Amino acid sequence: MRSLISILDLSVAEIDELVATANDIIENPKKYSEVCHGKKLATLFFEPSTRTRLSFEAAMYELGGCVLGFSEAQSSSAAKGESVADTAKTISCYADIIAMRHPKEGAPLVAAMNASIPVINAGDGGHNHPTQTLADLLTIQREKGGFKGLTVGLCGDLKFGRTVHSLIEAMSRYEDVKFVLISPEELKLPSYVKNDVLKKHGIKYKQTTDLEAVMPELDILYMTRVQRERFFNEEDYLRLKDSYILTPQKLKNAKADLSIMHPLPRVNEISVAIDNDPRAAYFKQVLNGKYMRMALIMKLLEVTV
Ligand code: NCD
Repeated sequence: MRSLISILDLSVAEIDELVATANDIIENPKKYSEVCHGKKLATLFFEPSTRTRLSFEAAMYELGGCVLGFSEAQSSSAAKGESVADTAKTISCYADIIAMRHPKEGAPLVAAMNASIPVINAGDGGHNHPTQTLADLLTIQREKGGFKGLTVGLCGDLKFGRTVHSLIEAMSRYEDVKFVLISPEELKLPSYVKNDVLKKHGIKYKQTTDLEAVMPELDILYMTRVQRERFFNEEDYLRLKDSYILTPQKLKNAKADLSIMHPLPRVNEISVAIDNDPRAAYFKQVLNGKYMRMALIMKLLEVTV
């Protein structure tokens, strides 16, 4: 039995296989409509979510399965003081697979160690978000035809942005990928990602505070929201929240085939004037997330077509 806690729990070959399955689901949805008949997904969300939770639920329904769960900690026994370990043991009696989001880094790992069913990390604090990365990888594969040789700009809150950490881990394993890390000084990439991933594997990267200066180099521009809920004080958030706002003007020197990505929700990091630009890929990411979660649920439940 396997869980997905970090994107590194999947080999490159397995990710490529999930991408291929998701592409086949897009082409032949009917083939997959009953493969999870009789199976139940539990969505245990201790933190707010729109896309991740609802795409997991839509994914399970589109595979012919059912869904149960909760969408806030206050409506679960966590509010009475129940541990993550006991919650995981309990849900193992009711469901076949768990998708869990939690504000504490490592909580889904604790759940996986105590559950007797697969656990998927749907976001743990400011740490990791591997299924968003699966959505991002399918989007990049469909937009760019592959991953090799891409220059990926990551912009905004690189400190607390868990989607960024998982995406760097995943893309560092593909050939000749370069990263441009664009953030205010206070929101730079944590040193554990820099040291354990970028430096350790000799990946080319540079750090800057100036988005416009690096714009012409980028094949992908991955914008992120400043993660208000992870700040220790509101003043710091207010000072940093508008550090980067992407406008059509700032795209003047961008490549004609740039892909503009964002895990969403957007606050104001991308002007709505960009939404109809053919380079905007963020709503494609939303849809791709559902297909990749379908492929992932099938893999972890070991069901085949
Ligand atoms: C992201 C998350 O929850 O980390 N959202 C998502 O799942 N698509 C990004 C964010 O909240 O800024």
